[in-house]
Amino acid sequence: MGKYVDELINKVNELKRRRRAVVLAHNYQTPEVQEIADFVGDSLELSRKAMECDADVIVFAGVSFMAEMAAALNPDKVVLHPVPESGCPLANFLPPSMVREYRRNLPGAPIVVYVNSLAATKAESDYVVTSASAHRLISKLDDDLIVFGPDKNLAEHVAEITGKSIVTAPPYGHCPVHEYLLNEYYVRKALESHRDSVLVAHPETPRGVRKVASFVGSTSQMLRAIPRFDKDKTIVVATEEGLVYRARKLYPDRRIVPANPLAVCIDMKKITLRSIVRSLELMKYRVVLDQSIAKKVREVIERSLEMVK
Ligand code: 13P
Ligand code: SF4
Repeated sequence: MGKYVDELINKVNELKRRRRAVVLAHNYQTPEVQEIADFVGDSLELSRKAMECDADVIVFAGVSFMAEMAAALNPDKVVLHPVPESGCPLANFLPPSMVREYRRNLPGAPIVVYVNSLAATKAESDYVVTSASAHRLISKLDDDLIVFGPDKNLAEHVAEITGKSIVTAPPYGHCPVHEYLLNEYYVRKALESHRDSVLVAHPETPRGVRKVASFVGSTSQMLRAIPRFDKDKTIVVATEEGLVYRARKLYPDRRIVPANPLAVCIDMKKITLRSIVRSLELMKYRVVLDQSIAKKVREVIERSLEMVK
């Protein structure tokens, strides 16, 4: 890395010590943000880390719903989100009013929401899951009819695994990166251009992709699956391109390629080293949730985490 980047890294490390801060980063962050992070992981691991962390300040390098989760789980800590406008477009598909409408129309059916949702939406739900915990939690529910949102692809994947009837709320919610840049067209092209390859995919990808994948799971589960494949296979990774850096770092002797190098989540990439330095210098932007929403979110998350321990 260049001199300018080295200076920023030194600055982040100095500020982390001064503020007694930790940086939690999602697997899709840029290489330099992953390098300065105290912990890098998927959404489930990051919420667990946020719960057990004993620093005074948590800087969240991820999209806003992740920073909100950390804030809800740590009411006594300062949680900073360096770029508050880095949101997840998938989360906007399911506003809290829509959850209330589904509850009115399907009374008695548990409402399970994906972690990629707004805090106010989580507060209206019965359970919160991540791509790592969705099928485990849903298979433990006694009910056969379940409302799940906002990702239609994950909903379909969970229905296929658990055999439950899942009503997708709304029927069209999707992640634009996985839906359009990691569709069958790009994935088939990648598999054709690498002979002897296997596909590992995120459950937010469309069904045609999941069907040809040798493994489907959360970003960290995808990482853990890689060493299970023969060494001579090329691993094609069907998720946001940031995971490939992490995968190559963990398994330097493996051939790992992105299914589409242009599958970039621009919101995740809004967090930069510079924005982290500024965040720690100015103690901005503090994530402050409405207290009653935060309390409800905490209860829903704790209940859900307990079920998938
Ligand atoms: P994971 O929980 O699998 O890390 O996924 C988060 C996400 O935003 C996927 O697009
Ligand atoms: Fe949201 Fe998709 Fe970005 Fe994940 S990759 S944070 S689901 S927009």
